[in-house]
Amino acid sequence: MHDPASLRTLHVNRFQAEPAIFVAPGRVNLIGEHTDYAEGFVMPAAIDFATLAAISPRADGKIVVYSENFKEEKTYDAAALPPKGSKHWSDYPMGVVSILAGEGHAIPGFSLSLWGDVPLGSGLSSSAAIEVATALAVSSVIGANYPGPVLARLCQRAENEFVGANCGIMDQFISANGAEDHALLLDCRDLSFKLAPIPASVALVIANTMVKHSVAGGEYSTRRAEVEEACAVIAQHRPEVRFLRDATVSDLEKWGGEMSPNALKRARHVITENLRTVAAAEALLNHDMAELGRLMAEAHVSYSRDFEGSCVEADAMVALAQDLPGLIGARLTGGGFGGCTINLVEKDQAHAFAEALAARYTTEIGIVPQIHICHASNGAHKVN
Ligand code: GLA
Repeated sequence: MHDPASLRTLHVNRFQAEPAIFVAPGRVNLIGEHTDYAEGFVMPAAIDFATLAAISPRADGKIVVYSENFKEEKTYDAAALPPKGSKHWSDYPMGVVSILAGEGHAIPGFSLSLWGDVPLGSGLSSSAAIEVATALAVSSVIGANYPGPVLARLCQRAENEFVGANCGIMDQFISANGAEDHALLLDCRDLSFKLAPIPASVALVIANTMVKHSVAGGEYSTRRAEVEEACAVIAQHRPEVRFLRDATVSDLEKWGGEMSPNALKRARHVITENLRTVAAAEALLNHDMAELGRLMAEAHVSYSRDFEGSCVEADAMVALAQDLPGLIGARLTGGGFGGCTINLVEKDQAHAFAEALAARYTTEIGIVPQIHICHASNGAHKVN
């Protein structure tokens, strides 16, 4: 039901009110993993999986949120918003409402219907898509008009402070600010960004290992803590280093011995990943797809070996893609420990590539993967 007309009908039938409808995409990250919370660089693209949000005002002071995915409705009192999430899907929209209230907006009653096709728990930012779609929808009823980067920050805060997941800014940023047929190089320090066109001859082939990924899970937080540990050690010697963004490989050579072995490896991944990400954006801007593919391959090895953020299935999905015709570059994308790989593939070979990869993965791992041929899409916007 990826169409606003069906969501409109559903909303009108349920709430007897004409809605305004907004869309916010999921994302795939081409390169730059676990660098965002180190104030480094990422290069994601918004994709054509998205969340739609339909909203209409209510006169009874209630906030009624309905998810077509979960087929469930939840009611809140607009004058008594919950202070924290309750490990329920409604935490994502209500977290956004709560952050907007905290920004000083009076929150009126409204009905909100949500529907999305971003596969859940697959590392394609289904949560960010819900947050950003909700933020645009609720902004429309409270008369707010935040620029995309500010909206992204508010949504990240909803996830950090209300949902309780310690994510960085990448997912919300690209969902709010993506551009059709472009990847976006984001400097997570000052949120400045550059768009890099993805050649029309290249497809984004997203291969789902079917192993569930979660940012709320323990591994993400453990890795983040190790990255912070490494940074703290370097900062003892170079106080100007506030985040690993400021650190170099030579810092690790000098002071790596003062860190736990894990912190050293995680830091090596983050520091080299920042360099690779900036180089990858250059390569894309120069149409040097071979170099981009090479950097993606290197990034995967670093993610898997140094960051230990991969898993057997994702490593297999990347390895099995290597000699298939049309492949430019493949790596695990997103928060890690499962989820999807991103494969840049020559468009005219994409279907054959997807079929062959699915067959190989099924044989090797014994799980039938979902493989999607996507293209880079626009960021969040009003639909009607
Ligand atoms: C998740 C988080 C992001 C980012 C990635 C890893 O998607 O939400 O902020 O940290 O993991 O690159």
